[in-house]
Amino acid sequence: MGVFEQLPRRVRDVLDSYLEMAELGRQARSGGVLRSLGPSALRGLLFKRGKQGVPTHFPASHEAFVDWGCPADHAELHELYRRAKRGQWDGETYLAWQTDVDPLNPEVPLLPERFVDFDHLERLGIQLEPEEQQKLLYSVVGWLLSQFLHGEQGALMAAAQVTEAVPLFDGKIFGATQVMDEARHVEVFHRYLDDKLGKVYQINDNLFTIIDALMRDARWDMKFLGMQIMVEGLALGAFGTLYSLTKEPLLRELLKMVILDEARHVHYGVLTLRDFVQNELSEAERQEREDWAFEVALLMRNRFMAYEVYEEWFEGRLSRAKWREFITAAPGMEEFRHVMFKRLVPNLREIGLMSPRIQPAYEQVGMMRYFDLAAADQLSGEQLVEELDQAH
Ligand SMILES: [Fe+2]
Ligand SMILES: [Fe+2]
Repeated sequence: MGVFEQLPRRVRDVLDSYLEMAELGRQARSGGVLRSLGPSALRGLLFKRGKQGVPTHFPASHEAFVDWGCPADHAELHELYRRAKRGQWDGETYLAWQTDVDPLNPEVPLLPERFVDFDHLERLGIQLEPEEQQKLLYSVVGWLLSQFLHGEQGALMAAAQVTEAVPLFDGKIFGATQVMDEARHVEVFHRYLDDKLGKVYQINDNLFTIIDALMRDARWDMKFLGMQIMVEGLALGAFGTLYSLTKEPLLRELLKMVILDEARHVHYGVLTLRDFVQNELSEAERQEREDWAFEVALLMRNRFMAYEVYEEWFEGRLSRAKWREFITAAPGMEEFRHVMFKRLVPNLREIGLMSPRIQPAYEQVGMMRYFDLAAADQLSGEQLVEELDQAH
């Protein structure tokens, strides 16, 4: 037995969480990435600022940009703005809130049983009765939707900042529709969690880290990259996965409506950043963004381990490392990762942040297989939903 295994379990679990954080520092490809993510990681992972039950203050350091002439400066964005106006909906009246949701009803499962591998859990020494299995899935879906909610809260703040900072007039008026969309998403996810599931989990430390980093960054294009491309791109994949998996009709309709909105947001990110990366950035600046995007992609792939569910269910019965093994191998989580990166990688290619220089790094983590798929400027929300329905 190594020294690590001889320590009491609680001490081991605390050490385990520190080791995970140290790994983030080791894996960072450049000093710029570490400078940008490091302080946020300290606040998120070490001090757990998102979990202290008090509001978070993010000092804003970006510059607002106003051209009083209201120039028509981007035809495609203007068209997207017109679509966004027509696509508005009222979360209060549009969705069938009278639907009776019973999270433990096996006839209308929120998640299919195969989402996690209960045999695997048994091999790790934990046997759950069928009723307990249902309850664990209820926790997992509550956790997922809570992270969606907190992501939407971040998106609401980031969309407002981006609307101020973006140097395009057509970008600003589109941005205003996004601010409204995100407010609606916060409203509907919160209402579903609160009224229908009766469960809201705190923000995951890694999600906090990413939001913290992009809220504080003074560079508007970093906010864009972080929110419109990384967080929103992954959210779009995650919403789609849950939309396909759940049998609960109210949740399905809610997710479908949110997907229609989100597709516009990612489209906005791709249009705006593609021009900016190609025309305005020096090669060194472009490389910094390229590295940053890769680090954040890894952070998102490797670190959404649902520790909040672990703490609720298994702390003291299972080590953090064993939980990580279990949740990483869960078929549902596997599906999430697949769909999320299928959405993200083509967008990074499209905006010019996947040059041959970084491709080997993506290859190594198995993400190059998504390289040639369609980017968000080629995929409307309607097409996405149709694709999901067909696969279903
Ligand atoms: Fe949203
Ligand atoms: Fe969004």
